[in-house]
Amino acid sequence: MNSDERNSKIIEALSKAFNMELETVVNYIAVSINLDGVRAKHIKDELAADVPTELQHAQLIANRIKTIGGMVPGSLALVMEQEKMQTPKDTTDIEAVIKGVIAAEEGAIAQYKKIIELASGFDPATEDLAITALADEEEHRREFLGFLKEIEAGRV
Ligand SMILES: [Fe+2]
Ligand SMILES: [Fe+2]
Repeated sequence: MNSDERNSKIIEALSKAFNMELETVVNYIAVSINLDGVRAKHIKDELAADVPTELQHAQLIANRIKTIGGMVPGSLALVMEQEKMQTPKDTTDIEAVIKGVIAAEEGAIAQYKKIIELASGFDPATEDLAITALADEEEHRREFLGFLKEIEAGRV
């Protein structure tokens, strides 16, 4: 792979991450509002609080895409695929939502690891951006794994 090809691969991977972040924003907003019940309150607050972080990831990525010679995709170029992050039929089913969040965070983690690998030793600024976002997503996943643990132990 020559350096132009490598740069194109990075732009492509960043565009995918941009898409994923925006889908996450949509779904975290929806679920943080749609859920019902006492047990859902904390999950709703957490997701609402994560929205600005995910939105900031999207903006940082968009800026990086432009900086390295790409074009930021518009809405018609986006592909939505977070099936597990849709509001459950039972709007008090927080276990389904927690599992959906963990899946979304794992998707983001995998994508940032891919970007880090592509950018390593070639594009340090993109690598740095992806490392910072990766750490945020790992923190989000850890938090929701903790919620899942409590639910599975039957304490909530
Ligand atoms: Fe994010
Ligand atoms: Fe996240």
